[in-house]
Amino acid sequence: MSDNRNEEFRVTVLPGDGIGPEVVEAGVRILEEVARRFSVALSLDWDDIGWAAVKRYGVPLADETLDRVRKSDAVLLGAVGGAEAESKDFAIRPEAGLLALRKGMDLYANLRPVRILAPLLDASPLKPEIVKDTDLLVVRELVGGIYFGEPRGRERTEQGEERALNTMVYSVSQIERVVRMAFSLAMERRKQVVSVDKANVLDVSLLWREVVTRVHSEFPEVELGHQYVDNCAMQLIRAPEQFDVIVTGNLFGDILSDEAAVLAGSIGMLPSASLGTQGSLYEPVHGSAPDIAGQDKANPLATILSVAMMFRYAFGRKEAGALIEQAVLAALEQGFRTPDLRAEGARFVGTRAMGDCVLDQIDRIRPDGR
Ligand code: IPM
Ligand code: MG
Repeated sequence: MSDNRNEEFRVTVLPGDGIGPEVVEAGVRILEEVARRFSVALSLDWDDIGWAAVKRYGVPLADETLDRVRKSDAVLLGAVGGAEAESKDFAIRPEAGLLALRKGMDLYANLRPVRILAPLLDASPLKPEIVKDTDLLVVRELVGGIYFGEPRGRERTEQGEERALNTMVYSVSQIERVVRMAFSLAMERRKQVVSVDKANVLDVSLLWREVVTRVHSEFPEVELGHQYVDNCAMQLIRAPEQFDVIVTGNLFGDILSDEAAVLAGSIGMLPSASLGTQGSLYEPVHGSAPDIAGQDKANPLATILSVAMMFRYAFGRKEAGALIEQAVLAALEQGFRTPDLRAEGARFVGTRAMGDCVLDQIDRIRPDGR
């Protein structure tokens, strides 16, 4: 995190596949406009990831791309994946590029805030009275656990039967750093952390719980609870207002954050930031949605809200991030909706027009151009 007003920040833009390029274009327009208004000096650099990179470099994340992102202060990513790539072997699947990027940048803490914006109360398939007070943050460990554990792969048993395995593994230091991040973030919020595990079954979870409890003693002001992941999945849609910060491992965080997206009305609303030891990365939580790619239908707000997180965490400019968030809310209050947001009497707009709406609102909120 940085707050050096004279510094030039290097941002690498990785649009990726499917709707990635469209939503990233909208995000970059907001990024450039808000940077100009707040005198944040930027230099932007473009590269490819995912299927786009397979086509250009033969691999979903080229070494030169990883070198480039490691030298940047922040990365803005669209989405990876697509129908063309479905049948390919794992090493050149677009998802492998994303995982290699996370690992290569050591992005150990993935922040996925879920908030219900008042104009979207009716957009969630859940009852408004259930979702109305949702304001939570999922902190997902992103470079460990079963996603990266060894041994993994396929093999034959002595009887000649084929089997496959993955390994869920966490070391103490891997748990400590993400949990410490979660407690620090809770200190800036409502000071409540729920740690999610499966300690009634898994050894990994028993260690996880011990480490969480130990790190908690560094943050006596924070209230700590533990939930099993199955119960948490239920609590999230039963009474989401009970959560402030949720901290959990890679796989549980993947699943719970998609579930929590339903609370916000659409996964098209959910931004994320991944923080690590070598810069940080900002991306919408949604995927590449190949079925609507190139049709100007995708919701760019998740990417735009990810840009807001970039101002906050990569550039140390909270007020610029807050302006973007305010402008998104105002655009929704005006009735503008992309097709993923169910609403009666909405003014439906496409990706590009939604970006324009947010820019208009920025202008309206700060007409002096700052
Ligand atoms: C996510 C996605 C990825 C993940 C996929 C695309 C590899 O679902 O960012 O949540 O599983 O982490
Ligand atoms: Mg996921």
